[in-house]
Amino acid sequence: MVKVLDALREEHRNFSRVLEILAHQIALFEKAEEPDYDLAEKIIEYLINFPDLSHHPKEDLLYQKLRLRDQRIADIMGDLETEHQKLAELTTAFEANLKNVLLDAEQPRAEFIDAAKEFIDFFRSHIMLEELRFFPAALRALSAADWREIEDSLAQSDDPIFGDNIAVPYIDLRDQIYEIATEQQI
Ligand SMILES: [Fe+2]
Ligand SMILES: [Fe+2]
Repeated sequence: MVKVLDALREEHRNFSRVLEILAHQIALFEKAEEPDYDLAEKIIEYLINFPDLSHHPKEDLLYQKLRLRDQRIADIMGDLETEHQKLAELTTAFEANLKNVLLDAEQPRAEFIDAAKEFIDFFRSHIMLEELRFFPAALRALSAADWREIEDSLAQSDDPIFGDNIAVPYIDLRDQIYEIATEQQI
């Protein structure tokens, strides 16, 4: 198997896990129940930082290589780098909405829920696109030398929640995530 793809798929599983937990918190908010805001804040902080630090750069490099090897399939798939920019914008917009809710600022409930759903839905369909179309296309089009070159040029950053060295602010969060994931069978 290709190491870069294994790492990307593992990261997708982890992103999906925290997105599921976030979606559950939003559903609580929508039902006028009390969500765990601290949990939601930490998850969004992770999703603002880690994907852009480590995950998207790997995919952008892979996508640039795919364009060189098979321009047609890269065109059909759409522009992945633009999707990453849009994802970053939706993530920041959701974070701003969440901050307003926490500050009790003028924040219509529906606007917050819409921003959350737009962000979560876009992230999930982006992952689906990559799993179902981008990774298989890259596997078909790239040579062993291409994969080696990509692996050599990438520095893997440690995932602060799911990596070997958990960042201090996330220590409790990881246990909490595994507990909730078991309860919700994610
Ligand atoms: Fe991506
Ligand atoms: Fe991805």
